[in-house]
Amino acid sequence: MGTQSPPQSARPPRRANPQITRTVATLLAWFAKEARDLPWRRTRDPYAIWVSEIMLQQTQVKTVIPYWERWLRELPTLQALVDASPAKIHKLWEGLGYYTRVRNLQKAAQQICATQHGTFPQSFAAILALPGIGRYTAGAIASIAFDQPAPILDGNVIRVLTRLHGIADDPREKATNARLWSLAGELVERASQMRNHASPCSHLNQALMELGALICTPRSPNCPACPLQDACFAWRAGRVAEFPRVKTRAAVTDRRFLAFIVERDGRFLVQQRSDGVVNAHLWEFPNVEVAADCPPARAARTWLGGKPRAVQKLLVVRHAITRYRVTTEAYRVEPAAGTSRASAGGQWHLPAQLHDLPFTAAHRRILLALTRPGSGRD
Ligand code: ADE
Ligand code: SF4
Repeated sequence: MGTQSPPQSARPPRRANPQITRTVATLLAWFAKEARDLPWRRTRDPYAIWVSEIMLQQTQVKTVIPYWERWLRELPTLQALVDASPAKIHKLWEGLGYYTRVRNLQKAAQQICATQHGTFPQSFAAILALPGIGRYTAGAIASIAFDQPAPILDGNVIRVLTRLHGIADDPREKATNARLWSLAGELVERASQMRNHASPCSHLNQALMELGALICTPRSPNCPACPLQDACFAWRAGRVAEFPRVKTRAAVTDRRFLAFIVERDGRFLVQQRSDGVVNAHLWEFPNVEVAADCPPARAARTWLGGKPRAVQKLLVVRHAITRYRVTTEAYRVEPAAGTSRASAGGQWHLPAQLHDLPFTAAHRRILLALTRPGSGRD
């Protein structure tokens, strides 16, 4: 018997997905032809690339160019940045905004000079550990400066990938975001295997950024000029405008509740919310949801099953829950003798006992107002 089954733990090599290979090859060819000649694309110096990525975090390319050029003239090395005065670096940054970025730049430079003998770290993890560097920026530096297969995912890349693959879920959602990172990872991983290219990881990632910035733009992307149009789900389906899904702010609905505060022998009537509802098991004063124009006296009467002796407004509590804007009006209600309906399902408790019960946020505010020193009891 010459056949041997492979050990169970060995993972079979991943079959190359031809679609991914085509996308990567197309992007690399397109980038070679169409990439803008940006000054930081003419260097492999990790320090210079790092500075460009930090500037580009919150600022447009055309604004960054002169700042980056001046910065590298004035502070051409990590050591120059370490030695620069805070006044100097702020001056060089002036007008770019988000000044935490420049303070973090110097802090990171000091860290590199203190711990890495002034050599910019090459591993993704070590880059990520520097102040001011998140997953995107670490991926950009690792790929652009060191041609490592580290993925990048920002607004531009999210737009390209959701359209290309027809990903309709909200990209900010955890699972969808993880899927997008994984897709970006597959692309750059495949690029790293393309031996006939110089800097394939660097160019693949920059091609994704570039396509998102120049062609696959937020509004009216230039699909007829896009190298990925044949493979693009959104374009082929005529549904480009649907991707990426924008978070639609759910319509806000107003809801009005009346809470009834009933007292008997120093005790107040409260009830516990049932299973399976919002705020399940929390305590509250008896309450009803009513129309915006419902007179409170009528609602109190319906609830009591008889005309109350008195209805007096105590306070109004406003709060928001999910897509509701809730107004709760609390009324002190004195039932007429003999109306017992109100207490069905409820419990009578002294104020001290009420404070020990878990109340809903809105009703806790009513309770606090009711038992505040000066409100007649405590
Ligand atoms: N945005 C972020 N990084 C960039 C880069 N390296 N080139 C162009 N735009 C960018
Ligand atoms: Fe974006 Fe259009 Fe290209 Fe699809 S075809 S990736 S939607 S520019």
